[in-house]
Amino acid sequence: MQLFHNPASPYCRKVDVLLHETGHFGDVEPLPAGGHPTATGADANMPVAHNPLGKIPTLLRPDGPALYDSRVICRYLDTLYDAGLYPDHRLWEVLTLEATADGVMEAAVLMVYEGRSRPAELRHEAWVDAQWLKVTRALDVIEARWMSHLAGKLDMGHIAVACALGYLDFRHGERDWRTGRAALASWFATFEERPSMIATSPEQV
Ligand code: BEZ
Repeated sequence: MQLFHNPASPYCRKVDVLLHETGHFGDVEPLPAGGHPTATGADANMPVAHNPLGKIPTLLRPDGPALYDSRVICRYLDTLYDAGLYPDHRLWEVLTLEATADGVMEAAVLMVYEGRSRPAELRHEAWVDAQWLKVTRALDVIEARWMSHLAGKLDMGHIAVACALGYLDFRHGERDWRTGRAALASWFATFEERPSMIATSPEQV
């Protein structure tokens, strides 16, 4: 299999962490893809021939059409490897936690794109602030309601939350998401020591 991939993308990192956690990292060849918001075409090796949205991650598999987005790819790989990262008995919780973490990523990535694609005089600070508000609201809910879930057996919710927090450290470190969220900060301090997280850190790739 081949994966259109950028090591800075938290969505791609979800896939990478899943592959490491299941011992299948070597099954997928990364195809380097651009990370600029306007880089949606073949010039930046974006997967437009396989994904009309031109987004990463996009997975090319031998036995069917390309798969996207990260939630679909992770669900597919979980089924392929019988990994149990979407356990039936708490499926809706896992999917909701994963969606919450993906929403944090989306807002955090949009903030980066705003800075990358607009000259300073055209920046829309209220819009950036609104994205950050989504991030902080989601983290407050995770801190208040999801810590017992995160204390349980590894599932895709854990991986998604960890990749979202890793991205906040990577691109928005100065905003200090840890203040006022001691339980989540402590959980992440432990989780980011997992070999799968160390191997996929955007800081070192
Ligand atoms: C980044 O550079 O932050 C980035 C790159 C690709 C996808 C998402 C984010």
